[in-house]
Amino acid sequence: MRLLFIAPPGAGKGTQSALITEKYGIPAVSSGNLLRAAIDKQTELGKIAEKYIHDGNYVPDEVIINLIEEELQNPVCSERGFILDGFPRTLYQALTLDKTLIARNMQLDAVLILYVPKTELINRLAQRRTCYNCGSTFHMTFNPPTVEGICDNCGSELHHRKDDRPGSIKNRIRLYNQETMPIIEYYSKMGIVHRVEGLGDINDVFAKIEKKLDKIK
Ligand code: AP5
Ligand code: MG
Repeated sequence: MRLLFIAPPGAGKGTQSALITEKYGIPAVSSGNLLRAAIDKQTELGKIAEKYIHDGNYVPDEVIINLIEEELQNPVCSERGFILDGFPRTLYQALTLDKTLIARNMQLDAVLILYVPKTELINRLAQRRTCYNCGSTFHMTFNPPTVEGICDNCGSELHHRKDDRPGSIKNRIRLYNQETMPIIEYYSKMGIVHRVEGLGDINDVFAKIEKKLDKIK
């Protein structure tokens, strides 16, 4: 399956992508995780991306497009498909992705949209803890790690992301509404959009996603 995940900051893209990978064996490609890894390694691209991300702004289209195209060349993505978490976020990115997929004779199967109210998004981000090593996320109340401050999956230290501060969160939500929401309309016209209510227990949200995916498998 080839899937896109479009949802506002804190809606649960990373959390649900991990569950999709576990059940369906599809690799998750998170644009945010790729950028944070580049920042961590202080690559040329990471140095460019750093300031944009910390302030909650989108990185320039060319930067993220190159990174994703490189990732999609991974043979696992050709063999098993993929779930793109956080890409595309602009109409230009969506049009470019289409061209890439057409050139490779590939088609998207579904675009998942998660809906979560703004107050809940803010609450989730304020209490999120992230593993920079494996990308896992936790929530201090709803999904706490077994040992405080340590990742359950790889044992690395957990962090409070720099862009999970109130000013950056506000900017990220504003940008999502302004730049990313319009591309939902673009994919709606292709008839591949599946809308999911993202409020409620993590496993209950996943059950709703499973219902959609089992129909298109
Ligand atoms: P990215 O890392 O993708 O950040 P984001 O889109 O802001 O989304 P988040 O990762 O914050 O949220 P999520 O939906 O994954 O939620 P999660 O599952 O963690 O991108 C970061 C930055 O990179 C962007 O701001 C931009 O600068 C740049 N960037 C990335 N892609 C780009 C692109 N294409 N173009 C340009 N720039 C780009 O869940 C959040 C919390 O809630 C966790 O604590 C989790 O445990 C908890 N939680 C999840 N589900 C539930 C639930 N059902 N109930 C209760 N708690 C829950
Ligand atoms: Mg995420």
